[in-house]
Amino acid sequence: MILPGATIGMLGGGQLGRMFTMAARSMGYRVVVLDPDPASPAGSLANQHICARYTDAEALAQMASLCEVVTTEFENIPAEALRQLATKTTVYPSADAVEKTQNRIREKRFIRDTGLKTAEFAVIESPSDIDTLASSGFHFPAIMKIAEFGYDGKGQVVVHSIDETREAFATLEQAPCVLEQRVDLALEVSVVLARAVDGTVSCFPVAENEHRNGILHRSVVPAVATAPMQTAAQEQAIQLAEALDYCGVMAVEFFIDQAGELLVNEIAPRTHNSGHYSLDACVTSQFEQQLRAICGLPLGATTLLSPVVMVNLLGDLWQDHDPDWASLLADPAVKLHLYGKAEPRPGRKMGHFCWLGEDAARLRDQAEQAFQALA
Ligand SMILES: Nc1ncnc2c1ncn2[C@@H]1O[C@H](COP(=O)(O)OP(=O)(O)O)[C@@H](O)[C@H]1O
Ligand SMILES: [Mg+2]
Repeated sequence: MILPGATIGMLGGGQLGRMFTMAARSMGYRVVVLDPDPASPAGSLANQHICARYTDAEALAQMASLCEVVTTEFENIPAEALRQLATKTTVYPSADAVEKTQNRIREKRFIRDTGLKTAEFAVIESPSDIDTLASSGFHFPAIMKIAEFGYDGKGQVVVHSIDETREAFATLEQAPCVLEQRVDLALEVSVVLARAVDGTVSCFPVAENEHRNGILHRSVVPAVATAPMQTAAQEQAIQLAEALDYCGVMAVEFFIDQAGELLVNEIAPRTHNSGHYSLDACVTSQFEQQLRAICGLPLGATTLLSPVVMVNLLGDLWQDHDPDWASLLADPAVKLHLYGKAEPRPGRKMGHFCWLGEDAARLRDQAEQAFQALA
């Protein structure tokens, strides 16, 4: 076991790294963050910030010499960097696990190899793959997605025909892409789970997620999905974690279509935006759980203490003036989290708030009103 007082490494200095840093430091650990941004949200709260690129061999060597275990908050850390680190210190999750999830094509094949369902998709490496599509009976509408580095709906275009598919492929200027059938969504849900070094698994309660423009807007827990559906989602997420021989915290996003079918959307090899509610509404937060999993501590209880709605605060809210925090904080059931980002660009995740109460359906309305009042 890696006990309090030890130094933990975090690859990535975004908000997920920041909330991990706070959890680890409050339990008496030291944290070293590696991130190329001198003003990264996590770097300023860490004991030490190594400001360098993720591929910088010297920085990685320094990280390895300082830290008993290294983890990540960002799926796009090059797998080679994780491999290099792993020759000198312990790294969770493994380079292999991260590698399988950082490319949508590899990820979808892995999900299907595990025996689980995804939306129908085709791999587009060149325009000739689109010609082939025309005769294959592929159904539109569909979504063209770049295979790597997409997030928050970036690198995606909705297409309705072969011609639009050609246009989208040209516009995205990145190959290969995945062309994914658009699912007629009834609901989106996600499962955040932790898997310990010894294979013990613990799931957080299922979150119901609503996206706006491809970006998570809010998560509601408990989700309205039926109990058997929620259990199936948790079982499938565990199956994926086991197939990855995963250690740490990971998340699985699911679609539930109008026919009630559960499809795996994607896997995040890290803590997840839809798990932020756990900071305020669970016995153990996803960030403390990440620490526990990678340090070989027993996993904490994930019991939900209260129904909760989490609402994201994007940079758009800052357009003319700062959001009206005083009005939001007037409700004693609100928990505000801001990530310390200086520049509020549109679509940029600046913070979130959680609203706790008795009844999830009422909370959803109250939280939405409070969100509207912020602007
Ligand atoms: N095939 C699809 N059918 C229906 N909605 C989709 C599909 N793909 C993506 N979306 C919508 O866009 C959101 C973001 O897409 P996702 O593939 O999860 O990318 P990101 O990596 O940006 O989160 C999804 O949560 C969902 O709301
Ligand atoms: Mg997603």
